[in-house]
Amino acid sequence: QSVDPFDLVIFGGTGDLALRKLLPALFHRFLDGQIPGSSRIVGIARETLDDAGYRAQLREALIGICDARQLDVFLQQVFYRPLDARKDEGWDDFAALIGSEPEHVRVFYLSTSPELFVDICTRLGHYKLNEGASRVVLEKPIGRDLASANQINDAVGKVFSESQTFRIDHYLGKETVQNLLVLRFGNALFEPLWNAGHIDHVQITVAETLGVGHRGSYYDRAGALRDMVQNHMLQLLCMVAMEPPSSLAPDAVRDEKLKVLHSLKPIDESNVSQLTVRGQYRAGVADGASVPGYPEELGNNKSNTETFVALKAEIANWRWAGVPFYLRTGKRLPSRVSEIAVTFKPVPHSIFGGDAGTLAQNRLVLRLQPDEGVKLWLTIKHPGPGGLRLRHVPLDMSFAEAFGVQQPDAYERLLLDVVRGNPTLFMRRDEVEAAWHWAGPILAAWADSGEPPRPYTAGSWGPSAAVALIERDGRTWNEDG
Ligand code: BG6
Repeated sequence: QSVDPFDLVIFGGTGDLALRKLLPALFHRFLDGQIPGSSRIVGIARETLDDAGYRAQLREALIGICDARQLDVFLQQVFYRPLDARKDEGWDDFAALIGSEPEHVRVFYLSTSPELFVDICTRLGHYKLNEGASRVVLEKPIGRDLASANQINDAVGKVFSESQTFRIDHYLGKETVQNLLVLRFGNALFEPLWNAGHIDHVQITVAETLGVGHRGSYYDRAGALRDMVQNHMLQLLCMVAMEPPSSLAPDAVRDEKLKVLHSLKPIDESNVSQLTVRGQYRAGVADGASVPGYPEELGNNKSNTETFVALKAEIANWRWAGVPFYLRTGKRLPSRVSEIAVTFKPVPHSIFGGDAGTLAQNRLVLRLQPDEGVKLWLTIKHPGPGGLRLRHVPLDMSFAEAFGVQQPDAYERLLLDVVRGNPTLFMRRDEVEAAWHWAGPILAAWADSGEPPRPYTAGSWGPSAAVALIERDGRTWNEDG
C-alpha cells in the first residue's frame, strides 16, 4: 500500500538511531516501492556537511542491504542541512527548503536528546512548519521523570496538537507485539483463560548481548529503568494485560493501555528492595569475546547507573489481582532474546498419579526476537508402548519458516504509520505520564537507598539476586524458549 509523497526530516540525522535504524528502515520501504519518488528525506545535525557528504555517510551505512544501483537512486532523495537547535543560523534556508504547502505531509522526527525537543519545536512553530499536514515524532525517553516529561509535552503541545504528535516506542512496531493483539482477540481460545483464575504468572524478558558501547554518555544518565522499562517493557505489559478494546481505533487501544498503567501497584521505598533488583555488568565474555565492564567502558568507576533490572510488578484489578508480572532486561546478558511468557496454572488434579503440581504447566511464549514466533507448551503422551509417559512439548511456529518472509524492522512499519497519520501504535501523552508516575518512585527509592547496583559478570544472567527474586515465589525464569 503506497503513500502520498512526503518530506521526512530527521533531527539527529548523523546519530546512532538514524544510521542504524531509521535510514535502513526507509531504504527497505523504498525497495518495496513505498516511498514515492518525489518524497524527500532530510538529515539534520550540527556537523558541517553537504548533501554529498551525508549521502557518502549513508552509503557506508546502507551498502550491505542491497545493490549499489538502487542505493544510489534512493540517496538522490536524501538531503542534509546543518542546523543547531539553539542558533538561528541556517533555519531560514531550511524553512524555505521544506516549504509551506498545507496538504503536503511533513514529518519532523526528533531523534535527539530530549533536552532539545522544546528548542526544535519552538523553531518549527516560528517558521510555521507545524501547520497543515505536519507531524512530529518524539523518540523515547520523553524526559527523565514525570516533571521533565510534562515540561516537554507542554512545550511541544504549544506547537503541535496531540493528534500531530507521535511518541514512538519501537517495540509496538515489532511484528510479534502486533501479533499478540491478533492472538488474544482473533482467537476464541485464549481470552476466556486470560485472567487470574487461569494464569499463574507472566514473564517479560528483553535481554541484549551488547554493552552500552559509544552510547555511554546518554546511557549513563538514563540506566535500564528509563531506557527500557518505563517505555518498551511497560508497553509490552499493557498489550498482555489490557482489556479487549472495542476496535483498533487509536484511542480505543490507548484507553485500555492507560487503564493498565493506572492499575499498576506502586513500588516505592517501602517495598523496592523486595520487588526490584538492579545490576551493573563487570568484565566478562559476551558473544565469545572478552569484554570490559561498564565502569571501564564508561571511564568512570563511580557510576551508579544500572545496566540490568529485574522486578516484580502487579496489576491491581479484577482480571489480574495476585498474578505477578516479572520483568527483566539488561545489557551484556548471555543471549539476545526478547520474549513474553505466559504461564498457566497447574491442572487441579492429576489422574496420572502423583501431585497435580508436578505436571508441567502450559505456557504460551511469544518470541519478539530473534526468530519471531509463538510457542505453546503442552503436555502430551510420549508415543509408543511403555505406559503413559508424559512429555512437555511445544507447538512451535516460527514466522520466518511459516511465511518464508523476513520480518520487517519495527521502524519500517511505524515510520509509514506516521506518514499515513495512524497513531494506534504510538503513545499518547497520558500513557507516558502514567508510566513515569509508576517508574518515578522506583528511581527515587533507589536514589534514596544509596545502594550501588549489584555487579554481574558480562555474559551471565544478571546478579544472583534476580534469580532469588523469582525463586522466592517458587518460580524460575523461563529458559526453555
Ligand atoms: C532502545 C534502547 O530503545 O532499544 C537501547 O535505547 C536498546 O538501549 C534498544 O538497545 C533495543 O531495541 P531492539 O529493537 O534491538 O530490541
